[in-house]
Amino acid sequence: MKPEHAEDTSVHELNAGRPVLAILTIDDDVLMFRGNRANFADLIRTGREMGFIVYVLTVKDLKLKRSTVKGYTYHEKSDTWTRQQFPFPDIIYNRIPQREDEMLPLVRKKLAACLRNPRLKLFNPTFFNKWQLFEWLRSSSSTKPFIPTTQRLLTSAGLHRLMRKHSYLYLKPVSGKAGKGIMTVKLLPEKQLPFRLKIQEDKKSITYNCASLPKLWNRIVKQCGNAPYIVQQGIRLAQFNDRKFDLRALVQKNQRGQWELTGIGARVAGSFSITTHVPRGGSIEDPFKLLNSYFGQEQAHIIQTKVKNAVLAIARQIERGSGQALGEMSLDLGVDRNGKIWFFEANAKPMKFDETHIRRKSLEQIFHYSQYLYNKKTAKAGGA
Ligand SMILES: Nc1ncnc2c1ncn2[C@@H]1O[C@H](COP(=O)(O)OP(=O)(O)O)[C@@H](O)[C@H]1O
Ligand SMILES: [Mg+2]
Repeated sequence: MKPEHAEDTSVHELNAGRPVLAILTIDDDVLMFRGNRANFADLIRTGREMGFIVYVLTVKDLKLKRSTVKGYTYHEKSDTWTRQQFPFPDIIYNRIPQREDEMLPLVRKKLAACLRNPRLKLFNPTFFNKWQLFEWLRSSSSTKPFIPTTQRLLTSAGLHRLMRKHSYLYLKPVSGKAGKGIMTVKLLPEKQLPFRLKIQEDKKSITYNCASLPKLWNRIVKQCGNAPYIVQQGIRLAQFNDRKFDLRALVQKNQRGQWELTGIGARVAGSFSITTHVPRGGSIEDPFKLLNSYFGQEQAHIIQTKVKNAVLAIARQIERGSGQALGEMSLDLGVDRNGKIWFFEANAKPMKFDETHIRRKSLEQIFHYSQYLYNKKTAKAGGA
């Protein structure tokens, strides 16, 4: 392997004490690699400005015994990506975009090998599963108050039991995202067809009115297919112009390795949607404007502070529950009509926030935390 060795020296000289961060993703026959290219380009740009060597690395190209690897870099002027040799990463930032890819045995094996490898630090090892999140958060008194009653959706009897306590329910796939597969059930005892099922379609929801529980259950089973679901107490969200809204918080670790709130955005639901996702007709708003408008300034301030505290407690507990090193997550939170805060889900691979101030800080925070990991790693290697 002489030629590679020769290349190593030059790469190491280039490297000269700069931390090396690889953005990990999956290879693709046509595209070279998968994932959000605009996000990767922003990361590369920010990292370079902050003194890092940054490149995109596919799981396939990550050879754990080598001192160099093949990665992709972005050229601003020509807006192109090229493949070239890079120094072995100190830090790996996992951005594998799809759950299905991350679950492939080969990928899981390599991620596990990374976690054991003292030469590198990997953060955000896996996607979350909605059911697990609720189990983790339920088990701590600091986060339990934010959790809507949640069960696995297994039998019609189980559904019925929960419906007696809560006349409004959300049904969600355990591995869902972007509102896909979400349904709601409302019990309207005074109606002739008392079970109202709504199923989220692309931008609207379809309503089915069912006469009996077995009929409702059949319709739900048909809709779920083989996907595991959870069923959850429905929260009556605060509204703006008769549309419900919820909050998206981004939490990341900082230069001291501690959780910090990067920013909070808000999403207002489209008028015919049961979720607030922008691709489903939702829109972006300033959270404080929405809270002020619904609750008035004084209560809005109190809620704001409560949200900030809740978010940090939740991030800590999720990390504890997962038993793994996490660097960031986004949280979907609801505020009900009494101003109480509720947790809906956490995403281990947060989407880009369109709010520019959150976006800027989120990119920098990745490298602040990476610098922290790098310092820790080099201190250990130096025998300190
Ligand atoms: N229990 C609930 N009560 C009220 N609204 C909910 C509930 N669960 C989810 N939602 C609404 O649906 C949206 C999507 O739910 P979420 O759990 O985030 O699923 P996804 O993974 O598809 O984004 C939330 O942002 C919220 O607006
Ligand atoms: Mg969500």
